[in-house]
Amino acid sequence: MTTVLITGANRGIGLALARHYAGEGARVHATCRRPAAAEELRRLSGDVNIHALDTTHHDEIATLAETIDEAVDIVIANAGIYGPDRSRQSFVELDADTVRMTMEVNLIGTIKTLQAFLPHTRRSQEKKLVAISSKVGSIADASGGAIAYRMSKTALNMAMCCAAYELKGEGIAVGTLHPGWVRTDMGGPNALIDPDESARGLVQVIRDLKPGDKATYKDYKGEDIPW
Ligand SMILES: NC(=O)c1ccc[n+]([C@@H]2O[C@H](COP(=O)([O-])OP(=O)(O)OC[C@H]3O[C@@H](n4cnc5c(N)ncnc54)[C@H](OP(=O)(O)O)[C@@H]3O)[C@@H](O)[C@H]2O)c1
Repeated sequence: MTTVLITGANRGIGLALARHYAGEGARVHATCRRPAAAEELRRLSGDVNIHALDTTHHDEIATLAETIDEAVDIVIANAGIYGPDRSRQSFVELDADTVRMTMEVNLIGTIKTLQAFLPHTRRSQEKKLVAISSKVGSIADASGGAIAYRMSKTALNMAMCCAAYELKGEGIAVGTLHPGWVRTDMGGPNALIDPDESARGLVQVIRDLKPGDKATYKDYKGEDIPW
């Protein structure tokens, strides 16, 4: 049986991933900040285990990693924020607090989560570490706006590439994946796809991940994204 851990699993893409893996018969460790309020997640059927986790609280990450004392095949660091204020993300107006907060969740929280669960991945059959990144973190895609968000994903991509290089000898595959433009609270109502379509595609891409010199940087359809 495949065991998967997903952060930010109470809504959006994280919830869709949890639903998909649970539907496939996987054991799912689904984390969210407020389990009591995670009604949709709590309604999922299958082997779904819900844990409280704010990924900016590193002590909570460490405690959870101790609590989940089993192999975890796939760790998906999905929790993310766009930034506290969309209007303050131009180069001219960007402020330090916006950058700090975005980096704290999208970069540091993601790295700390993947680090903490690396031992669980090592014990597993599939051995996969995944960050939900974005194609707007691609330097080749840079076109202005959302600078704090973009920087956090660009930095995350670099961290994931370094992780891939360090861990390939252990057979650990690393992905930094773009879920598409998805109709969630973050993606907004005009986005192109729903969370289920994104999750279906991501699960397929994750299935095909292989260890390598660099992380795999693909979208939910399996298309390569230029760095
Ligand atoms: N939607 C898109 O079009 C799109 C495009 C590219 C990339 N992405 C990426 O996809 C991932 C999921 O995005 P989404 O669209 O599903 O966004 P969303 O609907 O806004 O959901 C974000 C999730 O992250 C959680 N989260 C935020 N800060 C957290 C923290 N400090 N600790 C733990 N959980 C935290 C939220 O929990 P709460 O409910 O507690 O706030 C929520 O579960 C993100 O990494 C995002 O950058 C999304």
